[in-house]
Amino acid sequence: MALKLAVIAGDGVGPEVVGSALKVLEAAAGPHNLNYTTTDLDYGGARYLKTGEVISDDEVAALRDYDAIFLGAVGHSDVKPGVLEKGLLLKLRFELDQYINLRPVKLYEGVPTPLAGKGPKDIDFVCVRENTEDLYCGNGGIARKGTAQEISTQEMITTRFGVERCLRYAYNLARERKAAGYPGQLTLVHKTNVLTYAGDTWFRAFEEIGKADFPEIERVYHHVDACCMYMVASPERYDTIVVPNMFGDIITDLGAAIAGGMSIAASGNLNPDGVAPSMFEPVHGSAPDIAGQNKANPLATILSLSVLLIETGRIKNDPAATKVGQQLEQAIRKVCPQFEGQRLDRPKWSTDEITQMVIDAL
Ligand code: NAD
Ligand code: IPM
Ligand code: MN
Repeated sequence: MALKLAVIAGDGVGPEVVGSALKVLEAAAGPHNLNYTTTDLDYGGARYLKTGEVISDDEVAALRDYDAIFLGAVGHSDVKPGVLEKGLLLKLRFELDQYINLRPVKLYEGVPTPLAGKGPKDIDFVCVRENTEDLYCGNGGIARKGTAQEISTQEMITTRFGVERCLRYAYNLARERKAAGYPGQLTLVHKTNVLTYAGDTWFRAFEEIGKADFPEIERVYHHVDACCMYMVASPERYDTIVVPNMFGDIITDLGAAIAGGMSIAASGNLNPDGVAPSMFEPVHGSAPDIAGQNKANPLATILSLSVLLIETGRIKNDPAATKVGQQLEQAIRKVCPQFEGQRLDRPKWSTDEITQMVIDAL
C-alpha cells in the first residue's frame, strides 16, 4: 500500500521548505520500506493571480482521494489578505472537517528559549486547538459601512457537538500521554468570566465528559489571559491544553516563541476519524521577507512531516509511516544542538545545508 500525499507547496518560502522536507522523506523512506507517492498541486497566490480562482469545489472534493495533505504556506504580497487564508487554508480545514489542530510545544535540547531559567523539561506540552468553529466561522457583517454609524459584528459559534468531539480527542490524548509518563492533566483555556455563553458550553462539557469518562485525568481551568502569563512564567504547569479556535491561534504562536520560534513549530489539522484527509503544515506563514533566498529554516516543515507520518500511520494503520515519522523527529533532535544556541529563525546555514544536516542525522 502506497501512502498518497497531496502536496500544496504554496507561496513565499512554502516551496523551499516543502522541497526540503520531501528530500528528507526520500532519504528516510527507503530503509523502512515506506512506499508513498506525491502529487504537486499549485494552489496559492500565483495561481489565483493567473486564474482568479483559489480552489474549486471539485478540486476540494478531489483531495479526498489522498491519505494526507502536506502544505507549505499561503499568503502572497499581491493578493488581498484573507483571500488565500480563508479561500484555501480555512476552506480545507472546514470542508475536510479537520476539527483538531494539534500543535506540540516542545523545547528540544540545544534550542534557545527566551524564557530565562527554563529548559526542555519545563517546556513540553501539547495544544489541542478546536479547528472548525468559533470566530473562524465567518458569520457576521457590516452595516452602514463607511458612515460614522458603521457597525460590524463577528460571531463566535460554539456547538455542543463541536466542543464535545474536541474535548474527547483532548482527553484521550492526555490519557495516552499519561501512559507515556506525562502527568495526565488536561487544561481548558477559555474566558468564561466574560464569554459567559460560549464559556458555559465549553466548561460544562469539560466537567461532564471528564467526570464520566476520564476520571483519572486531572482537570484544570485557566482563563486565556492567565494562560499567556503562565506559559511565560511557568510553562511546566502544562501537559495537554484544549482551547477554542481563536484563543488557540494566539496561544500557539506564544507556544512557538517559547519553544524556539516559528522555525520549529509544527502542526496538524486532523480529521481523527479518517473520514477525510488530514493536513499538515508549519505554523509559520509564507515569510515574504526571506522568500526565494535559500534562507528559510525548514525544521518546522520537516517536523510537520514527522507529525503527518505519525498521525497518518495511526489513522491509516500503517506502522512504516509511524516509524519513519519517529525517525524524522529523532533526526531533528540530533540536529538542534548543532545550532549551538543561535536563534533558529536566522540560522547561519542555508535551507539546503540544514536539509543535508537532517539527512545526515537520519
Ligand atoms: P510569517 O510566519 O510568514 O513570518 C513572520 C516572521 O518569521 C518573518 O520575519 C519571517 O521571516 C520569519 N519566518 C517565518 N518562517 C520562517 C522560517 N521557516 N525560517 C526563518 N524565518 C521564518 O508571518 P507573517 O509575516 O505574519 O505573514 C506572512 C504571510 O503568511 C501573510 O500573508 C499571512 O497571512 C500568511 N500566513 C500563512 C500561514 C499559513 O499558511 N499557515 C500562517 C501564518 C501566516
Ligand atoms: C495559523 C494561521 C491561520 C489561522 C491563518 C493564516 C488563517 O495563523 O495556522 O495559525 O489563523 O489559523
Ligand atoms: Mn496563527
